[in-house]
Amino acid sequence: MDEPLKNLLAELEEFGQANDKSISDRPRRMLNITRDTGEFLAVLVRATDARRVLEIGTSNGYSTLWLARAVRDIGGIVTTVELSDFKVKLAAKYFARSGLAAFIVQVQDDAGHVLTHQGDATLDMIFLDSERPEYSGWWPDIKRALRPGGLLIVDNATSHPDQMAPFVALVKADTLFVTCLVPVGNGEFMATRISQS
Ligand SMILES: C[S@@+](CC[C@H](N)C(=O)[O-])C[C@H]1O[C@@H](n2cnc3c(N)ncnc32)[C@H](O)[C@@H]1O
Repeated sequence: MDEPLKNLLAELEEFGQANDKSISDRPRRMLNITRDTGEFLAVLVRATDARRVLEIGTSNGYSTLWLARAVRDIGGIVTTVELSDFKVKLAAKYFARSGLAAFIVQVQDDAGHVLTHQGDATLDMIFLDSERPEYSGWWPDIKRALRPGGLLIVDNATSHPDQMAPFVALVKADTLFVTCLVPVGNGEFMATRISQS
């Protein structure tokens, strides 16, 4: 990775940690993935040739930058969805500084609404890192939007197991998917679609 991007990611890590330590108001917290999760996502994008990536939950764009750096090298695009005006603007500034803006599509909207309008089997990868109680309601559209062999990765599977439990149970019970739990960072619950019908 080139030095300026390395430095920007380090700056974001420092900012996110300091910000979240001093602020208890959830909408103002960055709630970033860990660095090792970023590295893991970047490997997954490249290994699975995931050119059409959807991220739900941009925050200030830390995880997006890991995804964008990886899709850049394989000719892909990451679309990232965020509801908060404050965070969309913050992330846009970092994307401009990163030199990766051409590989990022920012969408300011409710993720449920975006997922409803996503075409069938149009995504290679979905990274889900948003409001966990919403996930089960989003599942029918997530499932529909992933192509066969497509990959769903969900953050906070080990840091918030109780909140994740209903969604994890729903996905595990779906015979069109195989799942696993990867103990990296805050715990990544993963599912891949084995068949379209
Ligand atoms: C855990 S943070 C994302 C952190 C980011 N992925 C990272 O690691 O840098 C979750 C984000 O989801 C956003 N969010 C919450 N509900 C949403 C919704 N219904 N649609 C879109 N974004 C939402 C929040 O504003 C918040 O910024």
